[in-house]
Amino acid sequence: MFKRLFEARWVQNLLARYDLKLLERLMLARHDFTARDKLRRVFRRGADPYQYATSPYELTRFERMSGLLTGRRFCSALEVGCAEGHFTRTLAEICDQVTALDLSEAALCRARALVDQPHVEWIQANVRTWQPDKSYDLMVMAEVLYYLPAPTKGPSYEKAFTLFIERLLSRLEPGGRLLLAHGYGTAAELAMREDYGLRVERLGLYRLASERIGDQPHDKGTLFCLLQLFEKPRPNK
Ligand SMILES: C[S@@+](CC[C@H](N)C(=O)[O-])C[C@H]1O[C@@H](n2cnc3c(N)ncnc32)[C@H](O)[C@@H]1O
Repeated sequence: MFKRLFEARWVQNLLARYDLKLLERLMLARHDFTARDKLRRVFRRGADPYQYATSPYELTRFERMSGLLTGRRFCSALEVGCAEGHFTRTLAEICDQVTALDLSEAALCRARALVDQPHVEWIQANVRTWQPDKSYDLMVMAEVLYYLPAPTKGPSYEKAFTLFIERLLSRLEPGGRLLLAHGYGTAAELAMREDYGLRVERLGLYRLASERIGDQPHDKGTLFCLLQLFEKPRPNK
């Protein structure tokens, strides 16, 4: 029935004239709903669903992520997709202020209990549509970008991803750093993780470091991680 309605000439004419935007919004809303629902189920399973406290892969990943940030103290950090705060705890040690953001209320609740420190602020929001109201000299996005509409999936998703990443990186201060870390198990997933880095470079950031870790036994088979560190140029560079 929906198919017939969608194909009706008057509906097509309406869509062509006005409402490609509405259709795009509906597709993105559907994506957000599915992601939110999946995460709700993950965090309902109980504490530490990703085994951050015990998995050798995750422990190595966090260690390398901190390794890439050593040697500098940050004034204000944004962690996107902080989950239960395992890496937020590290950021709280090396940053004067931390904003830790996540979609999941259950995850944030556990994160607050783990990192109960006054210089850490918690925000429950969908980062895709969230409007930052201040700037940061460090942004960390680890194992989170692939929850967003994949930019390679089609023009609407590409547009949504570009809007999101441009909005976010406009609040990274000159000289500020961006750390990306994303696990992958296949060549296709690696290409997708590399693509995030290329998009960031196209927005003017330059790459300071890139490394791969992994080959750690994991419950889903062998898992690797691509870690990339970028810096936003200062105006006179
Ligand atoms: C796999 S966990 C990663 C946690 C941590 N960053 C790490 O390095 O392991 C992904 C987290 O991102 C959050 N997330 C996914 N999509 C999000 C979105 N659109 N906005 C904010 N948080 C999101 C999830 O709720 C989840 O806590």
